[in-house]
Order: sequence, then C-alpha cells, then structure tokens
Amino acid sequence: MRILAIESSCDETSCSIIEDGSIDLSTVILSQIDIHTNFGGVVPEIASRHHLKNITMVIEECLNKAKMTMNDIDAIAVTYGPGLIGSLLVGVEAAKTLAWVYKKPLIPVHHIAGHIYANNLNKKMEYPLIALVVSGGHTELIYMKDEYEFEKLGGTLDDAVGESYDKVARIIDVGYPGGPVIDKMAKEGIHEYDLPVPLNDDSYNFSFSGLKSAVINLAHNYDQRGIKINKENLAKSFQDVVVETITKKTIKALKDKNVKRLIIAGGVAANSGIRESLLNECNKEGIDCSYPDLKYCTDNAAMIGAAGYFAFKKGIIADSSLNARSSKDLA
Ligand code: KG4
Ligand code: ZN
Repeated sequence: MRILAIESSCDETSCSIIEDGSIDLSTVILSQIDIHTNFGGVVPEIASRHHLKNITMVIEECLNKAKMTMNDIDAIAVTYGPGLIGSLLVGVEAAKTLAWVYKKPLIPVHHIAGHIYANNLNKKMEYPLIALVVSGGHTELIYMKDEYEFEKLGGTLDDAVGESYDKVARIIDVGYPGGPVIDKMAKEGIHEYDLPVPLNDDSYNFSFSGLKSAVINLAHNYDQRGIKINKENLAKSFQDVVVETITKKTIKALKDKNVKRLIIAGGVAANSGIRESLLNECNKEGIDCSYPDLKYCTDNAAMIGAAGYFAFKKGIIADSSLNARSSKDLA
C-alpha cells in the first residue's frame, strides 16, 4: 500500500510516499528554519504563509522524485494536529483536496503518532513498548500495548524539553533552533554549574520551566557581577540535568510496566546525551532501545506515512469534514 503523506504542523512543509508503513520511496522536506531564525523562534503567521506558497511544489517534487503520478497512490495521510493551526490547515486542505479529486481514502494522523512510527522506517516495531516522545512541543511517556494503541503515562507539566533547549540557547545567544547547538556545545564543556534536577519525584511527569528559570537567574547573576559565563560549561551542566531526569523516569516506566522495548521519538531524540544515556541504561537492564535515523527525528512526512498505514489498518479514515486541531491528546 502506497501512502502519500503530508506534514505541515510547524515550520517544515513536507511530503512523502511510503510503502506499507516502512519503505520511504520519496521524501521532500522544505524547512523554514532560516526564515524564523531572524525572530529567534517560529512566527505562526509567517509559517502558514510559507506553507501555502510551497505546498503544491513540495507535493509535485515528491511525486517527481519517485517517478510516480497520483495513479500510483492508494491513500492520502495528513497531520491534523497538534500544531500551529494556520500551518496545519494548509496541509489538511491540500490532503482533503487530493483525496477528493483522486478518490483516495483520507487518513488523519496525530503528529505524535507520526514521531513514534518514524521508528518503523528503521526496523519493524514490536509490542508492547514504551515510547519516549521528546520534541519542541512534547515530552511524553507513552505505553503501547499493541499496534496503534496509545496510553499516556505522563508528560510535561509546563515546557517541553525541546522548548527548554531553544530557550536556553536564546538566553546565552547561540541561535535557533537551540537543541542541536546546545548538544554540540555540551560535548565541548564540563559540568561546572549547579542546576536543580526538576520534579525529582516518582511520577512519570516532567517539568522544565524551573530549570529554564534557574539558567536565566544564573546568567543574570553572572552578568550583574561582571563575570563571563562559560557557555559550553553551561550547555553541559544543563544537558546533564535534562538527561538525568529523562533517563530516570523512562527507565522507571519500563521497569514498572515490565516492558523490554523502548523507542525514542521526536526532534530531541537526535540529542546525543539522551541517546547515549538511555542506550547505556537499557543495556544494563536488558531492554531493547531504538531511535529513528537522524533525518526522521525532526518533523517530516515520512513518519506520517508510516503512522498512516497503521491507522488505516485500524480503520481510521476521515471524510471531507476533517478539521485541523491545534491541541489534541494522542491517547
Ligand atoms: O519534532 P520537532 O522537529 O518539532 C516538534 O514537533 O516540536 O522538534 C524540534 C525540537 C526543537 O526544539 C529543537 O531544538 C530540538 O527538537 N532538537 C534537539 C536536537 N535536535 C533538535 N534538542 C536537543 N538536542 C538535539 N540534538
Ligand atoms: Zn514534531
């Protein structure tokens, strides 16, 4: 089954053709990062205008790359939420139009289900498993008893982990998006600054706003005293705390649920500290830990095509009344 998938929930306009939920036949991703960098974050109105300008071209380019026409496609999948409403609407309307004109089934895909199923593009996912979803908008632990069944165990009470990376990067003025930069700087620094481990309890919930405030206070304090902060050491100190809290809670969830499979998903799954720490801990516990290729970690339509296949198998189909949703729980 060949699915043409569309993703436009934030600042990437993307289209993919995915076969049987696992084979990437063609993927095109048009990123707007360069445009939003000037503002230090994504500007929703600008994002939706660029999606609108580019969506047709991205879909055409994706079909051309695969040397296919719409006759080779069996269904259309699209991210309907959560995300920026104006951005989502562009993808949803494009998908609805294609489905109607070419008489193909329309599959609505939750963005987080997409991030999770990015893992199926590397190797076939097996169940039960626990998914750690870490992105710019989400930090969640999801239990999957079976295919396309999601139970939320916990999540962030305030900022998402990727958001906190981006904010810390802004505080120390190292650019946007902050995650990859801070990750790289952390490798060059040592753990010098004492930062609080957030929500250090037995729950599966996370909190990153206190950690962000601690970084802001530290930066101001050093500034007022005329002391130059060592940015690499601050990046390393920050990343260590993030890695510690995420690793601890994820391993606890795996043990409590007696699950031997972990998948990491979302843009922050690209983080070297998180990957390394979870791999180490999972090795010790005999848990199989996997994560997507770097190119499938951040937003892309391939993951939507992969998830769409399993959604379709579950009978999840939409009609032309499908609407974009800015917020929506996966479970
Ligand atoms: O999944 P994604 O592309 O978009 C959302 O659905 O939110 O994730 C983007 C987030 C950004 O916050 C970015 O800073 C973060 O992922 N990110 C990273 C790394 N690469 C991307 N965070 C930490 N370390 C990285 N290597
Ligand atoms: Zn995402």
